Amino acid sequence: MNNFKLGYIGAGFIARFHVRAMQMVRGIELAGVHSIKGAEELQSYAKELGVGECTPYATVAELCNHADAVCLFAPNYVRVELMQQIADAVKAGAALKGIIIEKPLGRTVAEAQQIVNLAQQTKLPTAYFENQIHMKCINKALQQLAPQQRSMGPFALARSAEEHAGPHEPWFWDPTRQGGGVLSDMGCHSIAVGWHVLNPLGKPVNFLQPVSIQCDTALLKWGTKHGRKKLLDKMGVDYSKVPAEDFTTGLVTFRNPETGQQVKAQFTNSWMYDKQGLRLFMDGMGPGYAFEVNTLQSSLQVFIGDEAAEAVADAESALEKATSSRGLLAVEANEADLYGYTDEIIDAVKSFQQGKDALLNLEYGLEITRLCQAGYMAAEQRKTIDLTDPGVQAALKKYTSLIAQGRGGEVLF
Ligand SMILES: NC(=O)c1ccc[n+]([C@@H]2O[C@H](COP(=O)([O-])OP(=O)(O)OC[C@H]3O[C@@H](n4cnc5c(N)ncnc54)[C@H](O)[C@@H]3O)[C@@H](O)[C@H]2O)c1
Repeated sequence: MNNFKLGYIGAGFIARFHVRAMQMVRGIELAGVHSIKGAEELQSYAKELGVGECTPYATVAELCNHADAVCLFAPNYVRVELMQQIADAVKAGAALKGIIIEKPLGRTVAEAQQIVNLAQQTKLPTAYFENQIHMKCINKALQQLAPQQRSMGPFALARSAEEHAGPHEPWFWDPTRQGGGVLSDMGCHSIAVGWHVLNPLGKPVNFLQPVSIQCDTALLKWGTKHGRKKLLDKMGVDYSKVPAEDFTTGLVTFRNPETGQQVKAQFTNSWMYDKQGLRLFMDGMGPGYAFEVNTLQSSLQVFIGDEAAEAVADAESALEKATSSRGLLAVEANEADLYGYTDEIIDAVKSFQQGKDALLNLEYGLEITRLCQAGYMAAEQRKTIDLTDPGVQAALKKYTSLIAQGRGGEVLF
């Protein structure tokens, strides 16, 4: 059987992570890449890891003509134009079998809706890449606790957090290009995984109905004099003028449409987590049972003393967003698998081969964008947002948060 051919748009951080994940998936190859920068480097990496030729293509259309599915791994601020180019390529005859788009689907609800509309024009199956729902440890916990869920009832509370010390590229820090701060960037993960845990066994991913959201956004580290200077020097963004939140926390209430039971997903996200590196934390509480995941509790620790620290070449090879290269360090031996990238690729490819959407399609991504944007609205208005109110639903369709407009000072200072 021929390999299923993937083509990447974008050759940055997430593209490299997916190359590592592809190493663990049979029957697929990275056929090509289209990117403003980094295509040749990605090609060398893909060849080194043996995942495919990864031929650089000068246009989206050419890439689409040499792939079975195209993966949009470029920054948030070019999503709509690139999706338009994919839709044009399909219209012109590119024989794609599916379209994959990384989180967050859009910087606003309107943008995410535009992307959904363009994808619908192609009539192709889609995958919204939200890796955390595919984490083996989360799904193993749900599987292990299935008998308890059956006898005692579903989870009532899920708490999810993704935190690190801040993103790697300047555009993430610029709320006008990224779509906000850490809520837009990482709140989307935590809200999605909370919803996933709470959904009763065997129900679709959007079964529980979002009822309301409370949220706070704050600038706790990168707004200080020291933090602002560091950001300006390193990332070229001025948080005294155009700040974004580096911390958010909130609560989404969901309603079971069959039983009327209300359950809650709490989310916490920060770019001010000054520990070893990225930490994903999730726990779930059901009646009489529970689980907990903490990705910083690795079975592998290494120690590097001061004298030996000069020899460290790349601390990030131990852990995503590593902040330290000496002392007792947590090391994850297989991050691409731990964070769910392997399983999301397997799910998308298998689904596309059967001519259907992945577990999470773009319409689901739109729902997550809606919840994140409602979070910004709640924080701005300092009140609980009723997601069932038709007035709120209409307002969200046109809403751009003050932070994303570059007016974060009005909310955060
Ligand atoms: N699932 C996750 O945990 C996760 C982690 C990181 C990033 N992401 C998402 O992946 C996307 C990319 O993030 P990243 O960290 O790889 O960013 P990045 O800045 O590291 O890389 C972006 C790549 O896109 C290319 N690019 C930029 N504009 C382009 C254009 N118009 N046409 C073609 N290529 C273009 C750049 O040259 C670069 O190679 C973002 O939407 C981000 O939210 C997801």
